[in-house]
Amino acid sequence: MSVVAHAHPNIALIKYWGKSAQPGNIPAVPSLSVTLNTLTTTTEVMEADTDAFSLNGVPTTDPKVARCLANLRQRFALPPLAVRSSNNFPTAAGLASSASGFAALVTAVDAFCGLGLGPAERSELARQASASAARSVFGGIVALAGPAWQGRPLLDPGDWPVAVVIAVTDTSSKAVSSTEGMRLSATSPYFSGWVESAGADFDAALAAVEARDFAALAELAERSCLKMHGLMLATRPPLLYWNPTTLACLHRIRALRQRGADVFFTVDAGPQVKAICLPGSRDDVVRELTAIPGVTQVLSAGLGPGAWVQ
Ligand code: PMV
Repeated sequence: MSVVAHAHPNIALIKYWGKSAQPGNIPAVPSLSVTLNTLTTTTEVMEADTDAFSLNGVPTTDPKVARCLANLRQRFALPPLAVRSSNNFPTAAGLASSASGFAALVTAVDAFCGLGLGPAERSELARQASASAARSVFGGIVALAGPAWQGRPLLDPGDWPVAVVIAVTDTSSKAVSSTEGMRLSATSPYFSGWVESAGADFDAALAAVEARDFAALAELAERSCLKMHGLMLATRPPLLYWNPTTLACLHRIRALRQRGADVFFTVDAGPQVKAICLPGSRDDVVRELTAIPGVTQVLSAGLGPGAWVQ
């Protein structure tokens, strides 16, 4: 007897970076993201003699997984569980595998143990493990903001046919995890400016999504991304997640937009570049990014659903 759940990574257009002082892994800033469809985490949960975790077929220990289960056990009596998780995309390389991973884990445990949690509660539990995971419980375009700090769906996947093209430039695991990077970011002189200005970016992005205003969203999302990387660069020691290919992709996407394509970029705590575009520009974006030396793979996705049980 086992239960299998699936969840997709999400890509933030208005970034979360930094934690508030409150307990419960509460972000310092609100965020807004798109949940993808073709990249998937599949997680199977079954009863076992002791807790065990495997990732992509390899038995491993992950303190965040252990903490997530311990957190669930504070509220529910769970048996020892074997958790088998796999991703059909590069893991821990800035492609949001922890977001889909914890959304799938909480969803699978909920179904296997019959906890009867609603999506908002699963989102809150996923957030406590990895804040971006709160957003992957939901599909389409999703907000994560206070005071509840549970994911909130803004648009369903079919409401606005946005495409996401991912240029993979390096699949090795990242040098500094997002948890450690966020901890270090308190040393950045720009951190307070980041927190102070985040609410206005978030509110403007909500309005742009509501109005389906792609040009406005493009400007806000690129600014949020570059602001986050600016504060990372000024952290001690500096956090530089980009490589030369990352930068080449950003310039190519800006040039494409100047030629009339509906596309903008975003980059997370890793060197991959995510190009968000409207369907009419997607083929051009795929062709242009594929042609950049150093781009090893181009992945294409649309908007997808929230976490679900098979
Ligand atoms: O939730 P975490 O610890 O995986 O952090 C995610 C941080 C970013 O991906 C850089 C931004 C975001 O909002 O997803």
